[in-house]
Amino acid sequence: MLQQLEQLKSKALQELTSINHPEQMESWRVRYLGKKSELTRILRSLATLPVDERKAVGAQANRVKADLADGLRQKEQALREMQLAASAQEERIDITLPGHPFPIGRLHPITQTLHEICSIFASMGFQVVEGPEVEWDHYNFEALNIPKEHPARDTMATLWVDFKTDSGQRPMLLRTHTTSVDIRIMETTPPPLRVVIPGKVYRYEASDATHTPMFYQIDGLVVDEGITMADLKGTLYEFARRFFGEDRKVRFRCDYFPFVEPGAEMAIECSVCGGKGCRLCNYTGWIEILGAGMTHPQVLRNGGLDPQVYTGFAFGMGVDRLPILRYGIDDTRLFYSSDLRFLRQF
Ligand code: DAH
Repeated sequence: MLQQLEQLKSKALQELTSINHPEQMESWRVRYLGKKSELTRILRSLATLPVDERKAVGAQANRVKADLADGLRQKEQALREMQLAASAQEERIDITLPGHPFPIGRLHPITQTLHEICSIFASMGFQVVEGPEVEWDHYNFEALNIPKEHPARDTMATLWVDFKTDSGQRPMLLRTHTTSVDIRIMETTPPPLRVVIPGKVYRYEASDATHTPMFYQIDGLVVDEGITMADLKGTLYEFARRFFGEDRKVRFRCDYFPFVEPGAEMAIECSVCGGKGCRLCNYTGWIEILGAGMTHPQVLRNGGLDPQVYTGFAFGMGVDRLPILRYGIDDTRLFYSSDLRFLRQF
């Protein structure tokens, strides 16, 4: 019987070594340690053995049982570790793989240009301010010396907005130029004033290669005691040098705007032909980039300032024109078409 036990033990342990799955473990346990196992049968039959044999066989059977239980525990432990290692291997994240590139947006070319212009003026001590796009007739026209029947209104086809107040209808519009903010600033801020006003403006016009019903302007306004035309020219020369380059020639000529006196226009030498004359500059060699002038005394008065004490200068330019001139773009509408193939180039 002792020999039987010994054989049983080595058979069981032998089988145990080839097990590699938890389910096989359970059937092994039932087979060798279960209620119906050979070992249990031997242990139960001990009572029928003669006393001296009973002792030896009993001790041996208990040892075998302990060894098998021990083997089972070790095997279970080994299986658990194997499983853990396998799942760690399977679920491993390879952190050496490159990530998915995130598409990064960029600023619109018009916005880039606005930032550039604003920062040039900011470095000369100008503040950047904004005003409403839906505006009273008063600020866009009346207070800027453009009364009802004034011909200057014809040059700015206006988009009107119906607006009723308690006292009746008051004319509102989509501002046709950022100059509309000038009076608002004079009303609210005491001089010295040095501001640039970037923003959207609207005109009732069909789109074509050089017109869109909405576009960007930037206006400037300086008011203080003793401001002269020399300040205007110096400031705008400096701007042109910084924006277009040191060697680009700049020209001032007389022009008329109702809200300035005298009025002027500034042109730069054509970038395409270098002044010789080409299609871009209409064979003149020059490209107008802004209107300007000394703030009209009546406009100062409309803004609540005394023209005997204060003088000022103002200027205004279309922002879309600048990247057009710089990059030789032949259609303004491209800026507002949201075509990424175009926009990604800037
Ligand atoms: N507001 C004018 C326009 O839209 C441009 C302009 C001219 C603005 C002269 C000014 C200025 O401030 O002084 O055509």
